[in-house]
Amino acid sequence: MSEKPKFYITTPIYYPSDNLHIGHSYCSTAADTMARFKKQTGYDVFFLTGTDEHGQKIERKAAEAGVTPQAYVDKIVAGIKDLWKLMDVEYDDFIRTTDERHVKSVQKIFRKLHDQGDIYKSEYEGLYCTPCESFWTELQLKDGCCPDCGRPVEKTREESYFFRLSKYQDWMINYIKEHPDFIQPASRATEMLNNFLIPGLQDLCVSRTTIKWGIPVDFDPKHTVYVWIDALTNYINALGYGSDDDSLYQKYWPADIHLVGKEIVRFHTIIWPIMLHALGLPLPKQVFGHGWLVMGGGKMSKSKGNVVDPVKLCERYSSDAVRYFLMREMPFGSDGEFSNEALIRRINSDLANDLGNLVSRSVAMNEKYFGGLVQAPAEYNELDQKLIDLATGLWEKVEKSMNALQFSGALVEIWKLIGECNKYIDLTMPWVLAKNEADRPRLGTVLYVLLECARIVAVLIAPTMPRTPERIFAQIGVTDAEQKTWESTKTFGGLKPGSLVKKGEALFPRIDMAKELELLEAERLAAVAEAEKKAAGKEELPAPKDEEKTVFTQKDLCQFDDFEKIQLVVAKVLKCEKVPKADKLLMSTLKVGDTERVVVSGIAKFYTPEEMVGKKVVLLANLAPRKIRGVESHGMLLCAANADESKLSLLTVDSDIEDGCEIG
Ligand code: MSP
Repeated sequence: MSEKPKFYITTPIYYPSDNLHIGHSYCSTAADTMARFKKQTGYDVFFLTGTDEHGQKIERKAAEAGVTPQAYVDKIVAGIKDLWKLMDVEYDDFIRTTDERHVKSVQKIFRKLHDQGDIYKSEYEGLYCTPCESFWTELQLKDGCCPDCGRPVEKTREESYFFRLSKYQDWMINYIKEHPDFIQPASRATEMLNNFLIPGLQDLCVSRTTIKWGIPVDFDPKHTVYVWIDALTNYINALGYGSDDDSLYQKYWPADIHLVGKEIVRFHTIIWPIMLHALGLPLPKQVFGHGWLVMGGGKMSKSKGNVVDPVKLCERYSSDAVRYFLMREMPFGSDGEFSNEALIRRINSDLANDLGNLVSRSVAMNEKYFGGLVQAPAEYNELDQKLIDLATGLWEKVEKSMNALQFSGALVEIWKLIGECNKYIDLTMPWVLAKNEADRPRLGTVLYVLLECARIVAVLIAPTMPRTPERIFAQIGVTDAEQKTWESTKTFGGLKPGSLVKKGEALFPRIDMAKELELLEAERLAAVAEAEKKAAGKEELPAPKDEEKTVFTQKDLCQFDDFEKIQLVVAKVLKCEKVPKADKLLMSTLKVGDTERVVVSGIAKFYTPEEMVGKKVVLLANLAPRKIRGVESHGMLLCAANADESKLSLLTVDSDIEDGCEIG
């Protein structure tokens, strides 16, 4: 017996965030749909997902919540697993970067790369521009100052390990050029070459001494491994790479597809392949960078009030409807807009009208005219044959689209058949045939054709909508496993004459669009109010640095134009009081030259109102005004804070500098 071909697919491992939204479900739904499709078409599939749990952000959030980082992530990871269960995301393994199997393997990999000279320790002696938070070399300076903002730089020293990316730059360029399928869609390959590889790779700083919540470098434990080096290796660690039992690694590596969002393609197509190559391991066959689900043209974020909770959507409309929408709405690879209206429109038109009606009408007529008994078809005429050909040729089109990860394209093809079936009902008019006894054989044939098409549709939608097929089968009288296989869609006649159809509940009840939109909007507003309430306490604390996504490239730098937008001025505190019912907030009245303004800051734990009066502080003056706990705040006071925010200090200037003076 020949062995099944293997198929290994992964999602990125998610940051444990209590803010997982429909955008995160997008990638997992796609990976799950693909995994199911491959299983159905005869592959031995391994589908991996997991969580990326280290780094400064988690360290901070855990400290804010007053729990250990491990306790913090454990709770969130449990919620992520619940979400995947709700959405029928059926992975074969879930790896956590805090798993011992992962930690050990990361340490081994780091050591190996170090021992063979690809990772080296260096004392980073650089010139640091504080406003831009960037390191420069002597050669890069412009007139001895920061080339970006033109300000003076300071000498800094930091001990770090570095990964020799630069050594592999040419190899990487050639690899991408010689393997056009490696990065998909192809436009992303061009982007990687032009924006990162051709301008030149610098060695990557791969350890931190300032972040404690990470995997220690075992031979130098004051360093922790840079989160991306840690995270990327999950794809082989989950398979037992380098462990006593690496049978899964031997069986499934290299991965067939890493599915990732477009913003993390560069980590997966530059750092990861270079690491693998340096380790002497084969590269994944493909990295597919999908687009973003956006709302109102922008990235989803709780504070903007445009986050959509997948749990609520699944509970309200069913996970199959949500999965269908995600896979149907936008071509995989492009960005797409999420709106409640678009979701409800799809449910009403594609699911309730097209698919739902096909099944309910065919079943109802078969019950009405034949007591539910499926008839043996008589001879097929030309009209029937056209539909039959479309139905039996469908699998091939669906496979072609699915193998190119064009989920939407596959569904469009299936819905063409559904559309043709509904037209066929109108053309054949079974209710007219039913009036004449002599037409009964024809009526039986017409209904058989429709029910058999519904069976084929049910099988082909299964990867995207895993729950709906069984509901259809139960209505159209399909009971046997062999009538549900992918193979069975290639020939017409799987449905057995003599079976009994049975009308059931509507597959997807129609939704009253206007009423539903009103309800959803009310819920959204309540969520925004809740988020604002939560944010108020933290308003003035400096935003955590996004360590996890930091790779030092030119592209990430704050340009001089960006900096110029910021207006920093000296302000004098005239009055200060606590904001009622907000433990962390102080409300200061500031004098800025001839004007006065009120600013709310989250510093009450560190300063009393009395201590504040008279201070000359640094004010970010042109921050958009915003209401915090009912008080409109006009700007932000700059502070310095340590990682867990247990210490905080206001930035002040000497008293002989007048308020209103510009800083810069
Ligand atoms: N932890 C890293 C990945 C490490 S992989 C070795 C990470 N995590 S994440 O939680 O921020 O993102 C996980 C995935 O969700 C990414 O592929 C990201 O693109 C995807 N999405 C997050 N928001 C999204 C949308 N709004 N739309 C589509 N996908 C988006 O990055």
